[in-house]
Amino acid sequence: MQATTTQKWLALFLQNDRLIADTLLISLPIITGDYLVRKLIVALAITAILPAVAMAAGDAGAGKAKAAMCAGCHGAEGTALAPQYPNLAGQNAQFLENSIKAYKAQERTGGNAAMMYGMVGALADQDIADVAAYYASLPRGKGMVAAGNADAGKGKAAMCAGCHGADGVALAPMYPNLAGQNATYLEGAIAAYKAQQRTGGNSAMMYGMVGGLSDADAADLAAYYAGL
Ligand code: HEC
Ligand code: HEC
Repeated sequence: MQATTTQKWLALFLQNDRLIADTLLISLPIITGDYLVRKLIVALAITAILPAVAMAAGDAGAGKAKAAMCAGCHGAEGTALAPQYPNLAGQNAQFLENSIKAYKAQERTGGNAAMMYGMVGALADQDIADVAAYYASLPRGKGMVAAGNADAGKGKAAMCAGCHGADGVALAPMYPNLAGQNATYLEGAIAAYKAQQRTGGNSAMMYGMVGGLSDADAADLAAYYAGL
């Protein structure tokens, strides 16, 4: 009886990357008292585990046609037309897929998430995989930069590198690339995580990462990543 329950729990644990992340985040404070060391260990552990997570195979060619209705905001080539819309070109397919599914289920909240619900409500799983593969295949551009200080942001970004990469290019496909993203969108996302208003996907992983950032820190980080 005991073994069966343990086995079931283990199977569930291995299937669910969010559960792994949450469990690590919850248990690590007990193992080590240092905040930054804790963050680094979590980042490295998750990065090591995640490449194994399965993902539907998308067809970028089919996705291009399906993405026509997205161009009004995200641009014909995945480069957004306004700074509050995220660039999608060159973003990780798995992160895009997770985000679209979270909007479709209306699980992703905060920021301008509600704008996205109607846009993706009619997409089937294969459509979502195709659209994600299409945007992931496009070359990433530069983000629109806002008021922050990019040099100051570079210094503050050290603690983000374990997941988002030293150059803003994420180390695992479920983490978004931040390089070349619009600063206004990044600032909004950081504020939404900090207020724990952004939910869905793996958003809970971000709450602790940005909890100690001031508005000025968020603006500096956003300016830094947008310019990469
Ligand atoms: C009317 C404008 C508009 C249209 C059209 C639109 N989007 Fe969006 N999209 C947004 C906004 C605004 C956000 C940011 C929402 C938020 O704050 O969570 C967003 C966010 C996203 C994100 C999250 C990216 C990230 O970095 O987290 C994805 C993925 C996305 N849209 C895909 C699509 C797809 C696919 C379509 C077409 C089927 C589409 N969008 C159509 C406005 C739009
Ligand atoms: C332990 C890994 C990890 C670390 C460290 C981390 N992040 Fe994240 N970050 C994530 C994950 C996972 C997501 C996707 C969450 C979701 O699904 O909403 C994310 C999403 C984001 C987004 C939203 C991007 C988008 O396109 O919607 C921003 C902005 C962001 N992180 C900024 C930061 C900053 C700034 C730091 C450092 C202060 C940081 N992150 C540290 C894992 C991490």
